[in-house]
Amino acid sequence: MKPEIPLELTASLRAARHVVALTGSGISAESGVPTFRDAQTGLWAQYRPEDLATPEAFRRNPQLVWEWYAWRRQLVAEAQPNPGHLALVELERRVPQFTLITQNVDGLHQRAGSRNVIELHGNIARTKCFNEDLIVESWTQTGDLPPCCPRCGGPLRPDVVWFSEPLPPHALQAAWQAAASCDLFFSIGTSSLVEPAASLPYVALRNRATVVEVNTHPTPLTPYAAFSLRGAAGLILPALVEESLCSKRGNFL
Ligand code: APR
Repeated sequence: MKPEIPLELTASLRAARHVVALTGSGISAESGVPTFRDAQTGLWAQYRPEDLATPEAFRRNPQLVWEWYAWRRQLVAEAQPNPGHLALVELERRVPQFTLITQNVDGLHQRAGSRNVIELHGNIARTKCFNEDLIVESWTQTGDLPPCCPRCGGPLRPDVVWFSEPLPPHALQAAWQAAASCDLFFSIGTSSLVEPAASLPYVALRNRATVVEVNTHPTPLTPYAAFSLRGAAGLILPALVEESLCSKRGNFL
């Protein structure tokens, strides 16, 4: 059944000059990538992400953390972008200015074809040296887990932001600026719990932007959103783009 899209929202999207979309793990759920707060499965069921995605966990057991990310990299490699990712690619093509900010590290937005993507929490496909904090493109496979940095011999780690670590300053600055200058802000598939990403919709609100939430469940942001579309992003986003930017009633943007 096609999701109902409020007429006022389609009008806002057609009139918008700068649209921002903030995404969380919910947009990748329909690609088969577990959300951050989904129960972990199989070998990893006994662990909580919060207990693995930290510098302390890595120092305590680098091999365990490295292998968890290797498992997640495999999951992501087998996943495909879903209609929710693809609808945001279409949106980027059709609105005058579009900024995609993601908390996801799975790279599925880029694989779907999104071009202007701000990765607030890094990307699981990139690897960096734990000591130098510099990207490492290749290394000698010695069987060591984690592998060693070819420059300093230190352990390698995924280029993602762990709990208690600062976000990449340039990414955060760009996200903040986009939220402060947009006229339409979508919060999609995120529990709106983890800072500083969770503050971005409120920055947009202070700038009198229209805030729209797309989520299967309510979140702390729900009461503040002008529109709260309850349901799967993979169903709602294509309907929203179709209704707003390709509909008989509306103008093509
Ligand atoms: N469509 C839309 N929303 C969905 C879908 C879906 N198909 N499936 C799940 N959701 C919603 C859930 O209701 C939840 O609100 O997506 C949200 C996922 O929330 P989390 O698992 O908390 O993930 P996220 O918000 O991305 O976490 C933010 O916190 O754990 C850290 O760094 C990690 O980037 C992550 C950040």
